[in-house]
Amino acid sequence: MLQFTGTTGKTKQTILELLRGEGIFLPADCGGRGTCGKCRVRFLDGVPAPTEEEQKKLTAEQLRDGVRLACRSCPEGEFTIEYELAEEEITAESIASEKDAAVTESGSSGPSYGQNANAAGEKKVAIDIGTTTIAAALVDAETGKVIDTVTSINHQRAFGADVISRIKASNDGKKEELKQLVCTDLRNLVAQLGEDPDTIPVVIAGNTTMQHLLLGLSCETLGVAPFTPVDISLHEVENKLMLPGISTYVGADIVAGIVATGMDQSDEICMLIDMGTNGEMAIGNKDRILVASTAAGPAFEGGNISCGVAGIPGAISRVNITDGEVQYETIGGKEPVGLCGTGVLEVMFELLKEEIVDETGLMDDEYVDDGFPLAGSIVFTDRDIREVQLAKSAIRAGAETLIKEFGITYDKIRTLYLAGGFGQKIDLKKAAGIGILPEELIGRTEAAGNTSLQGAVMAACDSSVKERYLHAVSISEEVSLSESALFNDLYVEHMFFEV
Ligand code: FES
Repeated sequence: MLQFTGTTGKTKQTILELLRGEGIFLPADCGGRGTCGKCRVRFLDGVPAPTEEEQKKLTAEQLRDGVRLACRSCPEGEFTIEYELAEEEITAESIASEKDAAVTESGSSGPSYGQNANAAGEKKVAIDIGTTTIAAALVDAETGKVIDTVTSINHQRAFGADVISRIKASNDGKKEELKQLVCTDLRNLVAQLGEDPDTIPVVIAGNTTMQHLLLGLSCETLGVAPFTPVDISLHEVENKLMLPGISTYVGADIVAGIVATGMDQSDEICMLIDMGTNGEMAIGNKDRILVASTAAGPAFEGGNISCGVAGIPGAISRVNITDGEVQYETIGGKEPVGLCGTGVLEVMFELLKEEIVDETGLMDDEYVDDGFPLAGSIVFTDRDIREVQLAKSAIRAGAETLIKEFGITYDKIRTLYLAGGFGQKIDLKKAAGIGILPEELIGRTEAAGNTSLQGAVMAACDSSVKERYLHAVSISEEVSLSESALFNDLYVEHMFFEV
């Protein structure tokens, strides 16, 4: 627990705003709307009266104990609080090692990394700006070898966990602050790689919102129909290269994935799915690519799950249930603290397998009130099942819609690439078992790791890869799932489990 003592001035500020001003970033997943309950602090001194939202979100005991929501609490005069930092801050290292492995492996074996016209010994930094995490790789641009990688949480997280919260914050006058936060994160990462942020050439991939915030562009049009980006073209300013995107919800990170997996050069048809809060996907080959994004929600990141946590030490990541007996593994072998994304998927599969949950998502009466017990007070509830149904249905229906719109069947897909950390860690049989992925494609599915960073590394090593990016964008067409009757039908259909 950390402590902070301060005094409020004449202008009323929330604790969240005060701490941000001091460079202290609390978890604030809902972006300060008072709905996520993540920004808890405890007043040791100067405790203000609870607000209506705090009375709803906190128990009577917590309120008595001085616990408040930092985004709602406006103390007057002197106060002292204790608080904890965002959990990702503590776990950045474990995320790093997974991403490092993915990138280094591709970097050492991918032949397209090394064909280039860069000067001997020239180094560059490739960066993937994710909504949650930022990853940077230092590459020897001549040989295409990845020398080192580092990651950090995206400190814009203090303004909300998802792109919608960031867009809102930017539109509410925080555009410059958000830009400064990401610029500082990038400079720190480059410095951690032992390079000078002012002089080293940099190649950047990221989703459209992250790129808008970095460039200081207005996000006004990103959050409202028809969701038009200000600028997603390839930018090259001095020694900084910003990779191009396709649309507001299919950004440069997905184009980088298309290039990294070689889909843009392939005769055969491949598919790429990134199962994040926004499930982004692409299908196609060197002649034609269809892309789409679907609001899957954060269930597979442990979000909106009653005992959900990020992939932190102690998170239950593997589960087996036999005759009601639960066996589990936690990250780092630590005492269980909650369920991370893979744990959520595995519990869901096991409950279906054991017939504790039926194909409609209905839980056995015995567990409806208090949830199914997993470990100590960690349970899986009826509401959690609904969250999984929404997430899995959005991803599967999105993928099916793209396949049908492309006019093909499963047998024509050579490889299904799963991008991102979740795709790398899931048990494919269990994923197919709950219906996120089609059973037919499991034998042709590959975990591709951080394809956004890999694609940025490729562009850093070989200037001609820029042409591949431009080609990939030019042959890509977005399918709007929100306007697709086919998607709506499939979405309802895939709410059911295939047991
Ligand atoms: S309740 Fe979400 S940030 Fe405060």
